[in-house]
Amino acid sequence: MKIIVQVCVLLTVLAFGYSASSTWGIHNATDSIILNKRVFYPAIRNTIQTYYFDVPESYQSNNKVISAIYLQDQFQNSSGPSNFLYAGGPGWTFASIQMRTQTGFGLNVTFVIYGK
Ligand SMILES: *[C@@H]1O[C@H](CO)[C@@H](O)[C@H](O)[C@H]1NC(C)=O
Ligand SMILES: *[C@@H]1O[C@H](CO)[C@@H](O)[C@H](O)[C@H]1NC(C)=O
Ligand SMILES: *[C@@H]1O[C@H](CO)[C@@H](O)[C@H](O)[C@H]1NC(C)=O
Repeated sequence: MKIIVQVCVLLTVLAFGYSASSTWGIHNATDSIILNKRVFYPAIRNTIQTYYFDVPESYQSNNKVISAIYLQDQFQNSSGPSNFLYAGGPGWTFASIQMRTQTGFGLNVTFVIYGK
């Protein structure tokens, strides 16, 4: 019985570690939302897809310093992408994020970005 409980705890930890949502930085109450956006790409069979998300977006500008980036996986079932902030981010006025889907899955995420 005890072993079963421990296995469950372990699985929960693993599932949590696998979460496809990512957070960079923190924001406080005085920060404003620079961007709030949903991004969706359909699945392609047997394929890992790589997408990039940039702040500011093409043809937009941003002069606020980013304090936090919240990338929320809308699948919420461990099928979301792995995410990597490879340029800018908190402390900068720009950010570039790479999202890599799992094989055969698309992605459906929301970005909420705060700045001051
Ligand atoms: C939020 O951050 C600003 C700028 O760094 C700071 O002046 C302010 O005191 C902070 N507010 C809170 C509630 O922490
Ligand atoms: C993305 O996820 C949201 C929340 O689960 C859902 O309402 C929406 O329909 C999804 N978008 C697409 C294009 O599947
Ligand atoms: C996770 O949810 C998405 C959207 O609802 C779905 O397309 C996908 O097949 C699910 N993944 C698993 C492993 O069930």
